Amino acid sequence: MKIMKLPFIEPYKTKMVEKIHFSTVKEREHWIREASYNLFRLRSEQVIIDLLTDSGTGAMSDRQWSAMMTGDESYAGSQSYYNLKKSIEKITGFGYFLPVHQGRAAENVLFSVLVKEGDIIPGNTHFDTTRGHIEFRKANAVDCTIDTSNESGRYHPFKGNVDIVRLEKVLRENQGKIPGIIITVTNNAAGGQPVSMSNLREVRHLADRYGIIVIIDSARFAENAYFIKTREAGYAGREIREIAREMFSYADCITMSSKKDAIVNIGGFIGFRDEELYKKASTYNIMFEGFLTYGGMSGRDMEALAAGLGEGTEYDYLDSRIKQVSKLGNALSESGIPLIEPFGGHAIFIDAGKFLPHVRRDRFPGQTLAIEIYLEGGIRCSEIGTLMADRDQVTHENRYPATELIRLALPRRVYSDNHMLYVARVIGNVYERRKRITRGLVITKEAPILRHFTAEMERE
Ligand code: F0G
Repeated sequence: MKIMKLPFIEPYKTKMVEKIHFSTVKEREHWIREASYNLFRLRSEQVIIDLLTDSGTGAMSDRQWSAMMTGDESYAGSQSYYNLKKSIEKITGFGYFLPVHQGRAAENVLFSVLVKEGDIIPGNTHFDTTRGHIEFRKANAVDCTIDTSNESGRYHPFKGNVDIVRLEKVLRENQGKIPGIIITVTNNAAGGQPVSMSNLREVRHLADRYGIIVIIDSARFAENAYFIKTREAGYAGREIREIAREMFSYADCITMSSKKDAIVNIGGFIGFRDEELYKKASTYNIMFEGFLTYGGMSGRDMEALAAGLGEGTEYDYLDSRIKQVSKLGNALSESGIPLIEPFGGHAIFIDAGKFLPHVRRDRFPGQTLAIEIYLEGGIRCSEIGTLMADRDQVTHENRYPATELIRLALPRRVYSDNHMLYVARVIGNVYERRKRITRGLVITKEAPILRHFTAEMERE
């Protein structure tokens, strides 16, 4: 008998389950109309498979839950703070940190120190809350991501990279106006694409030449490290944690939304190398988040995070996670659905512009497609296109990003491969009837900033 190669399996098993609420197309038609065609306005029971985000939606482990029981809820000097400090120092190498309640809070605190009106903050693609916090301070976020990033079918192992020539031009032309460069790993808004180690190194060299600090938005640093290990020459034999440490060595400070790669439901932090900057930010942390030794978190949250940083940087876990994402991508690709390739770390991005080329961009093809997918099979995903790109602050016209995308973000350790097959089948069915989807959406109400979260829409 032939010896068979053993199949790859997830390095965990299930101890607790949560019921999925099924629904009919008719029910969903009613619900989405009530939600003004905004998927953020749905109740979670109205969703069968929730791929809206991978943020705070992961399943914690038994170790994390039991660590929570040991949370020290002291206002000052909590033991849980020191446990978290040790874990952050071990994984990131940063000696100073401030706990915050999530990633955008880290941005708020850090930018309160660094960013002022008229400043320019270049980087790869800024995430929407990062851009929001910059623009709220009347500063400008400049996207210097490589052009290949916008070519959905074209292969590049590190599509999240910064275009170094473009970055240098921005640095040269705006001297004195740049408080920092922000590199987001992985590059979420550009398709969950990784940034290479050599690119990080080049950014560091450039920043040193201009005397500017580098900030890494490290929400998905472990997934980025996995891609460096599997795609960049010289890293195959290195441990994920070693790679992560090297990535962080090129930054002066980091913002972290722990709701992603640290697999917790809430939490975040800012890491600093420089004591002075840490001290300046501390004042804002106390004002906006909480005292220095808990910030925006409870002792329990800090314990879960301390444990999660370790689990989120284990190779076997990352391998199973990223392979699940690519399994979904492959299944969709087999139906001919246009995707961003190579697949991202946390999500599959569908090119809605190519999927629904007959829906006008000012009628939101991404959102239109996301609604159709919801109606077809109760799957919730998010638009990353004209709706999310918002309006120009000066002209108030829609900003048109290079691509109209929708994102299927996979919560960590939550869904099975069978669930992913269901997702692929549902979207395949929408693809079959795509030519009949001709009506887009128009906005009836929108907020002045970050409109996609609350906008109300109707069919055109
Ligand atoms: N930076 C990146 C790269 C992010 O993806 C996010 C959040 C944040 C910062 C903000 O962190 O949510 O903890 O305040 N991204 C989520 C998403 C919301 O769905 O991609 P937060």
